[in-house]
Amino acid sequence: MVDGRQTCFEGYSKDNCTMSDHPHVYPVSDDVASKAWADKATYRKLYQQSVEDPQGFWKEQAARLDWIKAPRTIKNTSYASGNVDIRWFEDGTLNVSANCLDRHLATRGDQTAIIWEGDDPNESAHITYRELYERTCQLANALKSLGVKKGDTVTLYMPMIPEAAMAMLACARLGAVHSVVFGGFSPDALAQRVKDAASRVVITADESVRGGKQVPLKDNVDAALTRDGTDVAETVLVVKRTGGDIEWNEGRDVWYHELVDGQSTDCPAEEVNAEDPLFILYTSGSTGTPKGLKHTSGGYLAYASLTHQYVFDYRDAEVYWCTADVGWITGHSYIVYGPLANGATTLMFEGVPSYPTHGRMGDIVDKHQVSILYTAPTAVRALMAHGDNVMDSSKRDSLRLLGSVGEPINPEAWEWYHRVIGNGKCPIVDTWWQTETGGIMITPLPGATDLKPGSATLPFFGVQPALVDNEGNLLEGAADGNLVILDAWPGQARSIWGNHERFVQTYFSTYEGMYFTGDGCRRDEDGYYWITGRVDDVLNVSGHRMGTAEIESSLVAHDAVAEAAVVGFPHDIKGQGIYIYVTLTDEVEPSEELRKELTQWVRKDIGPIASPDHIQWAPSLPKTRSGKIMRRILRKIAANECDGLGDTSTLADPSVVDDLIEHRAIR
Ligand code: WT7
Repeated sequence: MVDGRQTCFEGYSKDNCTMSDHPHVYPVSDDVASKAWADKATYRKLYQQSVEDPQGFWKEQAARLDWIKAPRTIKNTSYASGNVDIRWFEDGTLNVSANCLDRHLATRGDQTAIIWEGDDPNESAHITYRELYERTCQLANALKSLGVKKGDTVTLYMPMIPEAAMAMLACARLGAVHSVVFGGFSPDALAQRVKDAASRVVITADESVRGGKQVPLKDNVDAALTRDGTDVAETVLVVKRTGGDIEWNEGRDVWYHELVDGQSTDCPAEEVNAEDPLFILYTSGSTGTPKGLKHTSGGYLAYASLTHQYVFDYRDAEVYWCTADVGWITGHSYIVYGPLANGATTLMFEGVPSYPTHGRMGDIVDKHQVSILYTAPTAVRALMAHGDNVMDSSKRDSLRLLGSVGEPINPEAWEWYHRVIGNGKCPIVDTWWQTETGGIMITPLPGATDLKPGSATLPFFGVQPALVDNEGNLLEGAADGNLVILDAWPGQARSIWGNHERFVQTYFSTYEGMYFTGDGCRRDEDGYYWITGRVDDVLNVSGHRMGTAEIESSLVAHDAVAEAAVVGFPHDIKGQGIYIYVTLTDEVEPSEELRKELTQWVRKDIGPIASPDHIQWAPSLPKTRSGKIMRRILRKIAANECDGLGDTSTLADPSVVDDLIEHRAIR
């Protein structure tokens, strides 16, 4: 295909993807294919068109949105490292919230847009498209009264309640840029993000409720806003979720219901350019502070909508449930924007899968007759650990499709997900993508792709994956390498907020002219992609992404710590766990107390998701003569693979390794 690089596609077409000789193939069923948006032939045709004629393909796809001014320029993108410039539909104008709400009112005003399921199984609510429109307009008017206007940033630090979706859509309505910060992040992490985005308004709630426990969101905001440089935040808008005790900062804090409830239920939607920013979302990289990825309006929405329709094969009136939190990109694209742009019914769950019982997810599926369930491998593995009967309180016969996202799914977990949760009758779409990509990139389509457990399979329309070796040479056929994307797609991030140079450096300078994903990947003889995990110093713990450098810099800020090295290790449930080697300062003795203190320190600094699994005291760390820590060795020892340490002769002091092996935490 394109420069002979699309070997995946050739492999696919060659045997028409029957792959009958492969031991672990789940072929597309004729029944699914006949009803699906895309069967094999349609996938092949559309994919081919999308990479051979991107202008034509995306011009057609742009028509799925309501434009104020339809775009005439479709693709104008450059990956050259001296000039990374990505624009889609650049002369078009639209409003994202009008696309998710207003245009559905005539046909689906009374249809449920959001099903909200509370942490408490006795609490749930249905919100129609009309109600969602009205309440979003009221909030938009309220934000307007606080002075929020086009181009301003608003930080959201919220529970999984409908107001979170309304807040995103209200910002979009005004052309304001939201920055959602996951409610599990610490005050310091929140402060850093409020400051970087320079948000004048923060929207939060008194408390969130998860697994029967309260999380003090408002207290965390109060603490965050005492940090240096956060005085940009003039107003904190507070949803009353629990009525729990909170401090009140007169002149800064405003109750959501007091300001919002009396507002008009109509608010004109601001006309924005396709390339105007829709949101910022922070994510971790291998170095430095979290990066605020900038996503824009037209291309992002077209891509979120198209992928949601085809990957989940969404059909009118179905109930679709993505279990992510709106604090992550999955929540942005596949709880809010994609489904609502498509007029879908999207379920939003406030709680956790293990509360009040491990059968909760199945109970929710039955209660709301969910057709499509999209969750993370870590959740599947956690349930799997409770045995095949864990879901016996539910039937789950409404399900017809399962999805997986966030990390590689091991074949055992895939099989269990298929057999137990899906009763052996639902295809699984294993969707590979990233905060940076805005939407799903490598994925099966239920009616078009034969499945192999553990493989994200084939590229979505418009996506041209390739593998390169460490020197950047393209690899052909079946191969193992670094995953890159050769050309632009509409959903991708355009920049890092306030730092375009860092954007270019991080994604476009490793391999000239290509987007580098940071992932390692294998392509098999059928052209299927198997993501093998990050090749940089980024960890993926229960689908949460964090930089080892972030955790290290938190640790060395503690008085007792002279040096720290953080690596990931294979963890049965979390996928990866956090393993820390700590060298203490001279006068400090190791103790269990200190271990606990350091654990708390990291949790407080970054958030509970960064809780260390193991801390090993390391009198010294293995370094090269030039002083570089050899992480390869540390990873092996953490994984208890001490036989295959490889060449240690380049170490300044090879004897360091023996001590580390002797005192390793896992054996
Ligand atoms: C990293 C991106 C995409 C939304 C959630 C995570 C890993 C993600 C898969 C998958 C194997 C996956 C990659 C990627 N990843 N999905 N289906 N199979 N690995 O977004 O926090 O930006 O993390 O998650 O390593 O680079 P994120």
